[in-house]
Amino acid sequence: SIYPVILSGGAGSRLWPLSRALLPKQLLALVTERTMLQETLLRLRGLAGAMAPLVVCGNEHRFLVAEQLREIGVAPLAILLEPAGRNTAPAAAAAAHYLAALDPEALMLVLPADHAISDVAAFHQAIAAAAAPAGAGALLTFGVVPTSAETGYGYIRGGAALEDGGPCRRVARFVEKPDRATAQGFLDAGDYFWNSGMFLFRASRYLSELERYQPAIVAACAAAVRGGCRDLDFCRLEEAAFAASPADSIDYALMERTAAAAVLPAAMGWSDVGSWSALWEVQGGDADGNVARGDVYLDGVADSLVRADSRLVAVIGVRDLVVVETPDAVLVVHKDQVQRVKQVVEHLQARQ
Ligand code: GDD
Ligand code: MG
Repeated sequence: SIYPVILSGGAGSRLWPLSRALLPKQLLALVTERTMLQETLLRLRGLAGAMAPLVVCGNEHRFLVAEQLREIGVAPLAILLEPAGRNTAPAAAAAAHYLAALDPEALMLVLPADHAISDVAAFHQAIAAAAAPAGAGALLTFGVVPTSAETGYGYIRGGAALEDGGPCRRVARFVEKPDRATAQGFLDAGDYFWNSGMFLFRASRYLSELERYQPAIVAACAAAVRGGCRDLDFCRLEEAAFAASPADSIDYALMERTAAAAVLPAAMGWSDVGSWSALWEVQGGDADGNVARGDVYLDGVADSLVRADSRLVAVIGVRDLVVVETPDAVLVVHKDQVQRVKQVVEHLQARQ
């Protein structure tokens, strides 16, 4: 059986001022009327062999997450609560320990809670095609054909075909978040994929591979699950044990190093929605290329994203602009410079 594991941590600081520590981007309705977390769960409807999802989130978000699940009628297997964020490798390791205890054959489908996928049928097909090789021990990632030298992604060079793996290929090389020149080189080489950040593997296989490279994560998460306590749908990871885990991502801790990695190239209209310009692209503008939300007045504006939360926002005679108004902060940024928004958050944190 396939157990979806939804990673719902992280801050999404490039989507400030909408995305905040207490209300991060996956819990916001950014692309549709539903929140990104809700869209992630609804996308699983009709997926063959899928069990109830396991959601992993920060303790401070537990009520928001539970409420968002209730709103769409999704009953989780459990909501694992992290006392503090330790990045994705421990979050997935805690989920893997939880699942392996329940079902030794469990396949876990690791899904970030903050992506958009326009072709759900293709998404389901990709998972179906990945199930057999993952069951046989591959650490499967879903690869996306890159369109720019984006530095915020992992890059995967496809290798030889995986035996009995259908369209899956071995990972010849995995490079997480290369610098701009390296990313451009990968793009020019033509045989690299972006890592979509979605994975399919056996829970037990993830743990045994991680054990080779980051045994401290495996041990800490085992203790955190063992010592955890159940409270309705919530399962609180034991605080001291989880805090003792090194912080690392699945990509750096495991995917860059393991020989068991495989990639399934999949065209599913995937977007990471990691920045305001990515959101503008995903939403597709009106005839002038504008995306407008809320009480907005536009005159002579093109290819811009304008959001008003609490006041009228009037914009005149500009193009390629992002304007985001909230009750306590306003952002105005050129669409080419949106990666710098996270520095505002760093500035605010330093000022505190
Ligand atoms: N529960 C939990 N706890 N979730 C977390 C934590 C954590 O401590 N940290 C991050 N997450 C969640 C985020 O909310 C997101 O949904 C997902 O895990 C991935 O984390 P990001 O922090 O967004 O990773 P990234 O975007 O820098 O890089 C990853 O995704 C790229 C594609 O979007 C990597 O897998 C890259 O290789 C990949 O290209
Ligand atoms: Mg991300």
